Amino acid sequence: MAAQSSSTGASQAQTRDQAGPSGAIAAGRRARQAVREADIRMLGDAAPPYMPDQLICAPAFEAHEPDTRLYLGDCRNVLASLPDRGTVDLVFADPPFNWDVPYEGDWNDGMERAAYERFTFEWLDGCIEALSPTGSLWVNIPDDTAAEIVLHLKRRGLVMVNWCVWHFRFGQCRNTSFIMSKVHALYFCKDPDARIWNPDAVLEPSDRAAIYNDPRTMAKDTNKGMRVPMDVWYGQYWGRIQGNNKERRPGHENQIPEVYLERVISACSNPGDLVLDPFCGSGTTSTVARAHGRRSICIEQSESIATSAWNRITEVGMVRKGASSGRSSAIHAKRPSKKGTPAT
Ligand SMILES: C[S@@+](CC[C@H](N)C(=O)[O-])C[C@H]1O[C@@H](n2cnc3c(N)ncnc32)[C@H](O)[C@@H]1O
Repeated sequence: MAAQSSSTGASQAQTRDQAGPSGAIAAGRRARQAVREADIRMLGDAAPPYMPDQLICAPAFEAHEPDTRLYLGDCRNVLASLPDRGTVDLVFADPPFNWDVPYEGDWNDGMERAAYERFTFEWLDGCIEALSPTGSLWVNIPDDTAAEIVLHLKRRGLVMVNWCVWHFRFGQCRNTSFIMSKVHALYFCKDPDARIWNPDAVLEPSDRAAIYNDPRTMAKDTNKGMRVPMDVWYGQYWGRIQGNNKERRPGHENQIPEVYLERVISACSNPGDLVLDPFCGSGTTSTVARAHGRRSICIEQSESIATSAWNRITEVGMVRKGASSGRSSAIHAKRPSKKGTPAT
């Protein structure tokens, strides 16, 4: 459903603009033109541009029902050649973080900062061009580059819908600073009123129902005891994919959990829609997209990673379908009812 179609257009936008976090979306919409026209400069702007050196028009792997394609190559080349430009409904990007990860293939994950920013702006621009006017763009990015990505997307005229946080336990232990236990999940769109948005597909039990036995939540006309999830995501199945996790794919060090993609894809696309991931890795995005009847395109620079991802996408499939919704994220046990008997 488009955001405007659940009640319609301007009147719904007006209602949304008056309450809570919707006010932030309205402020972003109002400031969009001024930010776009401002002369915002970042380090990467001065670095030499990348000149796409080959057109990559044919996918290396392709499957149908729903249509799924995996392209092999630098995503900047593929995005520049993609026949679907302007029609993608949802982009999800989990780029290399420039943390010296020894990726298979010939990717250098330890660039000079200016070159990394330039790379980041270029693939973001390719994704913006690929996106349809009703599309949404999500980026999974840690602290050190989140600010630059937010500014870049704003100066390109996109509007931020949410700055979500994926919180995980078992960050890498250290004592030189606080342990890192989150990544940012930045949610932008081209048009906040027309974007595809399916709140009912991602509901979870509210704290009112799960903890406080608050009768008001059960008195609602619809979605009794349920709410749209908060913008900090954690809980069962939301950890980093490690050890003997049944989702784990050997040889993929940066795999993100299925529940994360399931929430994004369910909320921001409809069955049959087209989802794009410019950094395929183990193939989480297309695996989840396929399980939920979405068409998808993913891009990977390494042939061996792409081959393994394709096996997951087309043979293994999703292993926790449905686990991202309907499950409480409450951090307190249910309170006893007023009469002193434990609530059910
Ligand atoms: C952080 S991982 C993505 C992990 C993925 N989200 C998952 O759940 O498995 C980034 C991936 O992007 C690939 N990559 C890096 N630079 C690339 C580029 N310029 N074009 C296409 N793929 C690239 C890497 O080889 C790596 O597999």
